[in-house]
Parts: sequence; structure tokens; C-alpha cells
Amino acid sequence: MIPHQTIESIFDTSRIEEVVGDFVSLKRRGANLVGLCPFHNERTPSFHVSPVKGIYKCFGCGKAGNSVNFVMEHEKFTYPEALRYLAKKYHIDIQEEEESAEQIQEKTAREGLTVLSDFAGKYFAEQLFNSDEGKSVGLSYFHDRGFSDDTIKKFQLGYSLEEWDNFTKHALASGYSLEMLEKTGLTIVKDEKHYDRFRGRVMFPIHSQAGKVIGFGGRILSSDKTKPKYVNSPESEIYNKSKVLYGIAFAKNAIVANDVCFLVEGYTDVISLHQAGIQNVVSSSGTSLTTDQIRLIKRYTPNITILYDGDPAGIKASFRGIDMILEQGMNVKVVLFPDGEDPDSFARTRRSAEVSEFIAVNAKDFIHFKIGLLLKETGRDPIKRVAILKEFIESISLIPDRLTRLAYVRESAHQMEMDEKAVLGELNKVLRRKLSQKTGLTEEEAIVVEPPPDFFEPEPQESFDKLDTEYQEKEIIRQLLLFGEEPIKVEYPGQDEGKMEVMETKVASFIISDMKNDEISFSNPLYQKIFEAGSKTLDETRELDYRKLTNHPDQDITQTVIDLIATKYTFSPNWEKRKIRLALESEVLDQHVPHCILAFKAKRVRQLMREIEEKIKDAPTVEEQIEFMEHYRNVQKVANLIDVKLGRTIV
Ligand code: UTP
Ligand code: MN
Repeated sequence: MIPHQTIESIFDTSRIEEVVGDFVSLKRRGANLVGLCPFHNERTPSFHVSPVKGIYKCFGCGKAGNSVNFVMEHEKFTYPEALRYLAKKYHIDIQEEEESAEQIQEKTAREGLTVLSDFAGKYFAEQLFNSDEGKSVGLSYFHDRGFSDDTIKKFQLGYSLEEWDNFTKHALASGYSLEMLEKTGLTIVKDEKHYDRFRGRVMFPIHSQAGKVIGFGGRILSSDKTKPKYVNSPESEIYNKSKVLYGIAFAKNAIVANDVCFLVEGYTDVISLHQAGIQNVVSSSGTSLTTDQIRLIKRYTPNITILYDGDPAGIKASFRGIDMILEQGMNVKVVLFPDGEDPDSFARTRRSAEVSEFIAVNAKDFIHFKIGLLLKETGRDPIKRVAILKEFIESISLIPDRLTRLAYVRESAHQMEMDEKAVLGELNKVLRRKLSQKTGLTEEEAIVVEPPPDFFEPEPQESFDKLDTEYQEKEIIRQLLLFGEEPIKVEYPGQDEGKMEVMETKVASFIISDMKNDEISFSNPLYQKIFEAGSKTLDETRELDYRKLTNHPDQDITQTVIDLIATKYTFSPNWEKRKIRLALESEVLDQHVPHCILAFKAKRVRQLMREIEEKIKDAPTVEEQIEFMEHYRNVQKVANLIDVKLGRTIV
């Protein structure tokens, strides 16, 4: 049995384009990739892969699905086999039921190293609390730093004695081989001699995502300037620096719960914030941030907030890392701590509530922060301003989501007192250049029109039954799936009688709450199921992630969702049209979403009127007939109101 959590993380980590790309040669075409379908014979590619949606669909043979479906279909794997295959590809540990004695014996070398690391962690912790040197040197140091015993135990902090080979001797005596000791880096072997790497240091064990000790950081306590302040485990079969984040095992639940991950510089920042009650915090410990680390965070949240000490040089150095985060489609905020303070010192000297509040109040959107910082440097020099704009647009161009990019264009134009169209024009230039680099098309050809938004499609003329709501229902579900996470501004009746107020919300929240308020359901049971599954994920995770719906356990849901969101993608040489679409789309959502719901309600109300008509006809007594007619008139009023809102004339 593979635990549910692990299955989720396999789905979240798998990138459809990588999974398919191992078997099919794919070419990028706009937002999608295309190739020759591996499931039927064809000469021209009709097999489409959408990285954003996490799905594939062949417009030739109709096969469609997600990453797991793909390997099941292609490799004829069973469901668990497919999961195991993907877990292996993405280095996700599958921890199954308890192991038998034989299985323990069969532990691979890799597992042996994990066992040794765990053993070392326990030994160092034991030395910290129980040896004289550990207590007087290590423990008192941690106490001076303000770490409580609970905190020390939680992070399994330890102490390595100031002796040449105290730990190595102990490990050898306990049956671990010198080879393993060398592999984990705990022991340094030189010619015939061997000695402890971490001697005379306080120890910070580094845990894997699953909470196993896989490496160490050791801090020196003497002020000996010839020795490095921190020494870290070298890379090993179990410790891959670029893939690990310090603190992730203790942070992951809090990251999900708070829907944001705080990123700090080092061990002590993570620990101090934890002690201040802020648990959704990790650090990349000394190395600069890597894509793997960002993806690790992305499994839990799309939001990263970087906590800096107020050193401008350090901040500028981190811009590159931030661009990498943007590139992953994540949202970045930054918090600057007062001069001379880092998150560690700040958290140590303030009450917990103050720390949380400081972060909440000072978190600035990265893009604004970057412009602000750059503008401060250049003042009003117009030529320098243009240079800033260019640098800045490079950052924006990395954001995969178009509507987000547009929002930033608007904001930055405003902040820099520039014409929005000019900024957009610059951005488009960069985007075209990038697309042309990726695809090998000329810049003239490299113009993308996303799948034509279905909302430009007119309602089909004369459906079979005039009151049939299939089209409206499908449209609403499609918007929920495609645009659920987009912001929209909607009007609602405000406090003052007759006055409307504008509220900003997300498409998904708006649709779901509106439908629920009016207690309307879909007549197509599949749409109703999708709607409910969607509103369930929205309740649980506060976002409507349609990737979750494309791997829903209910196959009917999965299939319908994939069919609804898979749209053929086309190139258009018509640049002007593209520009118009870019400018219009966000505003269109504001109007179109409420419009669709109204159109659905309009039909629903007419269905209801027809039902009441029947009742009037069949009413056994005059009194009841009058009652039904009263009801009819009320419903009719509602129908008229809706028509007015829809801008339809009442016949
Ligand atoms: P600091 O230099 O602030 O370390 O670096 P510190 O232990 O808090 O020292 P003091 O008490 O302020 O002087 C902050 C973080 O950067 C990482 C560590 O994770 C540390 O927690 N770091 C620092 C390294 O990995 N290597 C280094 O050489 C220095
Ligand atoms: Mn420090």
C-alpha cells in the first residue's frame, strides 16, 4: 500500500511534459507541446501535451489523461506500478508497511547510510545533554542563543566532542564500517589516519522531507578565525544539497496550512522562528537557491516569502534566485528586517505575536520591491529608468501566467509613471524573443494565440429544447476549470440601499458561492459532480486546482474535466489581434463570468415557471390554483430582473 500522502506528492511532482517526453519527442507550440501520438499511427502530430493543465490528449484517437494514465497506457503498468515508476523518476520515497527481518537485511547501501546518519544524530544529541563537555560547551551555547530544551530536542541539535576521533571510534565499535563513515562525510580518512569531521562543533542535523537525518551542519564555538564557522556534510548518496531544504520536515504541514513558505538564510533563523511559533519556514542553508528546492516548496504552496536581513548587497545577489521562483509560476514576497537584524536575532528579542505581525505588515510583493529598490538607486534619470524597466520586464516575462503578467505590467507602469501600452509593448518584445529562441521560429512568427477562449463562442442557435441548460452549465464548469484561480471584480449590493459595491474575488469562489447562495444545481449529473469536487478542494485548500480534478479517483470526473479543458491550440500570425486579446481578457472575465451565471439562472427560472404552469393546470381546488399563480408571479418578477441585468428586452 502506498500512503495517500505519497500518491498526492507523486501527482503534484510529476510534470506531464517530462513524463511523456521520456517516450515521445515533443515540440513546443505556444503553451502546449505536440508530438506524434504513441497510441495510434500517424504522420502529422495530433498528440497535445499541456504542462499547465498536467494532461495529454490526442485529437486523432481521443486518448487523454494525466501522467499516471500515460505510463499505465504506454508501459502497460498497473496503477501501483505506474506510481512506483513516477516515484522513482522524481526521487520520492515510498514508505510502505513495516519491514520484515529479511527486508531489513536487504537494506541497500543507501539505507545503511541513513541508518548511520540517524545513529550519529542520536549520539551527538546524547553528548550534548549528557557529557560534561557537551553540557558546559554545547548546551550552554544553545541556551545563550535563547534556544529552549524543547526546541533543541525538536531539531535534534547535538554536540561533537573536541577530540580527534571520538565519534568515529564509537561508530566503528558499534559495527559501522569506515567506508560508510567516509561516505557520509562524518569521518575524514587520510592515508592511514581517520578523524571526525565535526569535532568540537555544535551539530545541526539536516532532515529529509520525510524527517530522516541525511546530513549535518556543524558550527564552531571558538573564535578561531582560521577555521570555517560552519562545516557541512559533503554530498553523498543520501544528501544532495541542491535538493534539500533545511527544516522542510518540520515545516511542511504549516506551509500547507498557511499557504505560504518563509525562506530564510540559515539554520539559526529557522530554529528561532520556530521557537517564536512560526513553523512554515525553511532555509537553503548557505547555498544559493536551486530549482529543485523551489519545486519542493511548490508541492506545498505557490507562495514564497523571503525574509532578509537589511543588507542591500545580499538582496541584489538574491534577485537571480527570485527570478527562478517566478519562473516556476510562484508568487514571491519579501520582508526586509531592520538594519543589523536577521530573522534569528529579531525573533529572539521580540514576542511571538510581534514577529508574525512584523512579517505580515512588511511583506512586499517582490516586483514592487524590486522596482522600488532600483528606482531609489537611479533617482529620476530617464535613461537609467529605461534600463530599469528592461531589467524588470525580464523578470515579468518569466511569469508563466498571462493574467499575472498583465497585472504586473499595469502596476509597474503606474509605479514608474509610464504608459501602460509602452510597457506592454516591451514585454511583448521580450516574450517573442524568448518564444523564438525556444521554438526556432522567427520573431515575426513567434506569436502565440492561446486556445481561443470559448467565451467568444456564440450560443448555438436553436437547441433542441429551449429550456435545456446544457450549454450554460458546460460554460460555467469550463470557466471554473480554466479560470478558477483568476481574479475578477464583481458588483454586489452594498450597505447603502440601492448602491453597488465592487468586490475582488476569484472566479471559482464567485461561481461557487453564487450557485450555493441561490441553491442552484446542475441538471447534468457529471457537471454537478465536478462542481462539488471543485468546491470541496476549494474549501480544503482555498484554491481550485484543476490538476487535482484531472486525477480524480472518479474516472467520469477525470474524463469530463480533461475533455472540457483540452483545447486545440493554434498559431496566428495576426499580431494586432493578439494585442487586443491581451488587453481585453481580464476585463472580459469580470463581465463574462457573472453573465454566464445569469444566463443559466434565466433558463432555470423559466423551467421553474413552466413547472408552476403545469401545477396551475392540475390544481384540484381554486384556492390552490390562486396560490400557485401567486408563486408564478413572484418567479416571473425574478425572471424579469434577471433579463434586465442581462440587458435583454422583455417581450
Ligand atoms: P550567521 O553568520 O549569522 O551564523 O549565518 P550564526 O550561527 O547565526 O552566527 P552569529 O551568532 O550570528 O555570529 C546565518 C546562517 O547562515 C548559514 C548558517 O545556516 C547560519 O545559520 N551559514 C553561515 C553557513 O551555512 N555557513 C557559514 O559559513 C556561515
Ligand atoms: Mn546569525
